[in-house]
Amino acid sequence: MIKLKQKGMKWLRLLHILTASVWFGGVVCIWSLVYTSFFQLTESEFLTVILLVPGLYQKVILPFALLTVIQGIAYGLFTNWGFVKYKWILSKWILAVLVTICTGLGGIRQIHVVVVNIELSGFAGGFADGGLALLFISLQIIFMVMMIILSVFKPMKRK
Ligand code: HEM
Repeated sequence: MIKLKQKGMKWLRLLHILTASVWFGGVVCIWSLVYTSFFQLTESEFLTVILLVPGLYQKVILPFALLTVIQGIAYGLFTNWGFVKYKWILSKWILAVLVTICTGLGGIRQIHVVVVNIELSGFAGGFADGGLALLFISLQIIFMVMMIILSVFKPMKRK
């Protein structure tokens, strides 16, 4: 398999940091939008604003997350980092799967569940309605912070 040279590695790293930053920053903004929706809006405002969240996941997070994961595959195939040679990289893959699960369950499914429940039994707001969605979005942020820390410190060098 051909391997990237030093210059190629720099470009890959630049792209990787850019797209991972948008993914991470996007999720932090979504957390803030969801928090505001549950804690500060009336029912009709809530039903308008909260439906923007699945759209943000689809239009912003999904493409940048896909690009970042493609770069992870490129790191695995075209550099000496590999996929499982280092524990910190293996851990990043596991965390990426966890973030994806929390996005599907929390960011998207949970919001649809909440909207259906509110239409059936009214809007209470706060943690009563928004607790689970905020928990899943917080987990996405926590797992991504762990990925950033792993990437910079690269602990447990080789397996
Ligand atoms: C999902 C699969 C991913 C894989 C396999 C992966 C793998 C890697 C590798 C091999 C490096 C190179 C480090 C170097 O050349 O020094 C790197 C850098 C980095 N990654 Fe990832 N990454 C992934 C996703 C992410 C995500 C989602 C984030 C952010 C939340 C992230 C944040 C970073 C950062 C900040 C660096 C720069 C570290 C530095 O330059 O010192 N990565 N990643």
